[in-house]
Amino acid sequence: MPTLFHLSDLHFGPKFNARVSELVLQDILNTKPDLTILSGDFTMRGRVEEYEQARAYIEQIPPPRLMLPGNHDQPLYPRAMWERVTTPWARYQKYIHATVDSCVEIPGVYAVGINDNRPILPGGFWSQEQRAWMTREFARAERGACKVLAMHHQLNWNNKRRPFGQWFPTAHLNWLKTLGVELVLNGHMHIPVTIRSAQGIVLAQAGTSMSTRLRHGHNNAYNLIAVTPDEIRVRIMEHDPQQDKFLPRGEHVFPREKRD
Ligand SMILES: [Fe+2]
Ligand SMILES: [Fe+2]
Repeated sequence: MPTLFHLSDLHFGPKFNARVSELVLQDILNTKPDLTILSGDFTMRGRVEEYEQARAYIEQIPPPRLMLPGNHDQPLYPRAMWERVTTPWARYQKYIHATVDSCVEIPGVYAVGINDNRPILPGGFWSQEQRAWMTREFARAERGACKVLAMHHQLNWNNKRRPFGQWFPTAHLNWLKTLGVELVLNGHMHIPVTIRSAQGIVLAQAGTSMSTRLRHGHNNAYNLIAVTPDEIRVRIMEHDPQQDKFLPRGEHVFPREKRD
């Protein structure tokens, strides 16, 4: 039964919570997941020192790891603006992972991570090349494997206006359904939300794992996901400041569709 540890929005930089980061790392080491997925926003402004700290942290997480960039991973400060426009992912590729799109296969799970950020416009874009690549990658999955897509921005609407989310989420979800994707993981909103879309795709959004940029009353959080032949279980783990540890804050169980 594959176990996925999904964390997001680490945000190394001024608003980083070092104590909570230690707790998350210890939880990863104790959980021994089959795959750890980090869905973007490793840094706050894409500064070199933030990237160095993020890399040192990631190296303590046992592989396999699936990583993809967030909108905050492009440099954003006056002296870096030219770099942001010309080579926005050079630092990410130097410090975090050699490619911005990547995939990891473990028994029972085929996971693809996609870069859905762009330098100027808010996130939520996939190029035609990325679509073709995703199609090829998911076609490689073994029969019965759970196809997982990880990206930074959200495909759900959170029942609210969604200013910086994925564009055309319904069209994206309809298309992902044709590829057989069962689970979509994202971050960005700093709010843990898990729902099943009208297409039957489970959407699991992780909160921010270790940034002090907390929103809507949620504490730091990560997702623990178990994939069995029959179901996908998403357990939200949220930091309890009083007890100084992460505790379960609800579990969502979704039956998987039977496939031939
Ligand atoms: Fe973020
Ligand atoms: Fe973000």
